[in-house]
Amino acid sequence: MKVQENISLKPYNTFGIDAMARFFCEINSIEDLKKALQLKGYPNIFILSGGSNMLITKDLDALVLFINIKGKEIVEEANDHVYLKVMAGEVWHDMVLWCLAHDFGGLENLSLIPGHTGTAPIQNIGAYGVELKDVFIRCEAMHIEDQTIKVFTQDDCHFGYRDSYFKNDGKDTYVITSVVFRLTKKNHRLNTSYGAITTQLQDWGIEKPTIQDISNAVVAIRQSKLPDPKVLGNSGSFFKNPILTKSEFEHFIAAHPEAKFYKVSEEAYKVAAGWLIDQCGFKGKRQGDAGVHKNQALVLVNHGHATGAEIIGLAEKIMTTVFETYGIRITPEVNIIK
Ligand code: EPU
Repeated sequence: MKVQENISLKPYNTFGIDAMARFFCEINSIEDLKKALQLKGYPNIFILSGGSNMLITKDLDALVLFINIKGKEIVEEANDHVYLKVMAGEVWHDMVLWCLAHDFGGLENLSLIPGHTGTAPIQNIGAYGVELKDVFIRCEAMHIEDQTIKVFTQDDCHFGYRDSYFKNDGKDTYVITSVVFRLTKKNHRLNTSYGAITTQLQDWGIEKPTIQDISNAVVAIRQSKLPDPKVLGNSGSFFKNPILTKSEFEHFIAAHPEAKFYKVSEEAYKVAAGWLIDQCGFKGKRQGDAGVHKNQALVLVNHGHATGAEIIGLAEKIMTTVFETYGIRITPEVNIIK
């Protein structure tokens, strides 16, 4: 475990923002993490994982701990399922591919999501009809102040739409060190509820899909509309889909019957933020090196040398225009590091 000084964070955040860390330390084990959290004489601690859901807006006068703890272990096995424990620093998609290679089902709809496994519970990652909470059993996390390890069950995590305990009361308090998933070994429960998956499988002439087919379909769909961060810096969906109450929604949809939406419950409706932003004419637009992706208006991109402040400037313009046009407030989904 070595503390380095003045390290560029450009390779460590998928937006590709070139901000500096005053101090930087790679964490490869639980022991490293404990030692690093006990170091004295450094400014604030900043926990960095896959860097795929953050926008850094300035140099960090902090000790940045890059969580890179690797490892996977089957901790329980039955006839039809396994409990797989994955250490926080495992790259999410590589882990999903490993599960597919072992014919473990449950994560296939979450293929190609960027980031590390340890941060997946923080925002309850989700895509194509599945959320992390659907396969989550528990996670372990180290308390930043006293370095004790605590186990969090599904109930403890208070998962919601792109939300959890770790974004609310538990914010900046714990570092997740591992996650345990329940995965099927047979009788996989395929989720093809998303029309796009069904269409893709039909195009390929697949009538009885396997979990690998579902993963392939999700990868193809994602690649067709989401930019590869290695090619064009981005953090996936920059905004959350706003949730309206039933009466707000009825008012809205009467005025805009063509809008795209999902019913969440009898009382709540999610409106597609990508649609709202697209209708406001932002798709493919750019302001300096900050831009809106040409295939998906929900995704902001860095065309090369955008600063975090420039991306925020564009995001604010979008939020204001959507509010002035539709009376709906959209909010960022990514963590903005100020
Ligand atoms: N739409 C437009 N124009 C656009 C983008 C979208 O009209 O530029 C319309 C689409 O035609 C569609 C609707 O808006 O009818 C919804 O769009 P889409 O399905 O592409 O995306 P989403 O449902 O808003 C969410 C997640 C994604 C996830 C997909 C698939 C959020 C904020 N985003 O997007 O997650 O991959 O569903 O499940 O919930 C992420 O979090 O980084 C992410 C990519």
